[in-house]
Amino acid sequence: MERSRIERALRGEEIDRPPIWFMRQAGRYLPEYRAVREKTTFLGLCRDPELAVEVTLQPVRRFGLDAAIIFSDILLPLDAMGRELRFLAGEGPSFPDPVRTAADVRSLKGLDPHRDLKEPLEAIRLAAARSPVPVLGFAGAPFTLACYLVEGGGSQDWIATKRFMTTEPAAFRDLLDRLADAVGAYLQAQIEAGAVAVQLFDTWAGTLSFDDYRSFALPAARRALSHVRGAPRIYFTKDASPFLHVLRETGADVIGLDWRTDMAHARTVLGDVPVQGNLDPIALFAPPDEIRRRVHAIIRAAGPRGHVMNLGHGIVPETPIEGVVAMVDAVKSWGV
Ligand code: CP3
Repeated sequence: MERSRIERALRGEEIDRPPIWFMRQAGRYLPEYRAVREKTTFLGLCRDPELAVEVTLQPVRRFGLDAAIIFSDILLPLDAMGRELRFLAGEGPSFPDPVRTAADVRSLKGLDPHRDLKEPLEAIRLAAARSPVPVLGFAGAPFTLACYLVEGGGSQDWIATKRFMTTEPAAFRDLLDRLADAVGAYLQAQIEAGAVAVQLFDTWAGTLSFDDYRSFALPAARRALSHVRGAPRIYFTKDASPFLHVLRETGADVIGLDWRTDMAHARTVLGDVPVQGNLDPIALFAPPDEIRRRVHAIIRAAGPRGHVMNLGHGIVPETPIEGVVAMVDAVKSWGV
């Protein structure tokens, strides 16, 4: 059977136009997502395979996307590892019992994805059977997960996390190793459940200095990805342009670029590794002609080989649907 467009692009093949999917493509900007969400909580949705598949497929059907990303969250494995995860309405995630000491780290449970994350794995199985396009899996990278676990929630400056990292580096490395082994096993289970590729989200690694990135976040991401076989592995970091020349050391097969990174520069620095991205998510608020111009500039700079079109980070809830339509049209009419 011939490989799908997304699988070909992720393997660096030349194609007539790049495949397109969006980070956070299922979410509050879609009225049909909001309708499902009215019936349940966010975590309730993540833990209900039927509903998770329904919202996974909503944007695929509406926009004719080239991939479905399974609806879930990077923080679910942390709850299974023994730190209760809460999502309070309008407030984002929190962990009431954060990890702040070496003893806290040692108290974390190991993750068995088949036992602890049955619902998302079942959702992948169902989505793979029902989706008209390939299904992608994902997990949070060790450093980004450690940020939430140590801080107890989101942050601007990640003070508790960086204080722990600099005060007790050995304990912090122990934490990263445990998280790496957990997400590595989880990603492998997702591939076995039917994901054709997986993405590791290292959203907050870009807040580190270069030395700390190279010494903590990068080896942890490499350790996580080293457990994963049999499908392309995408590594995404936000604000990572200063780290561009070392990103291949993660061992990732594909590098996800944020929107601040110049695509032509990225190609020069990264060499022949496939890339993903990287329109500014807020550019979707621009007029359709301007979106088209920007999308075509990215496609031109990336070239015909090994490029997956995406935003440079997730869709924001206020995004106008017309902007998403304009971006998909621009990609599909490339070269036509
Ligand atoms: O891309 C997709 O469509 C798949 C689903 C997905 C979600 N979160 C759904 C979600 C994915 C891949 C994520 C990843 C994720 N989750 C990251 C890494 C990527 C990134 O965005 O940087 C992070 C840091 C999280 C943690 C998280 N989850 C936060 C900080 C929040 C609250 C922020 C917000 O927008 O309210 C979430 C909640 C969340 N995850 C929502 C969705 C659709 C909104 C929940 C709702 O319906 O209320």
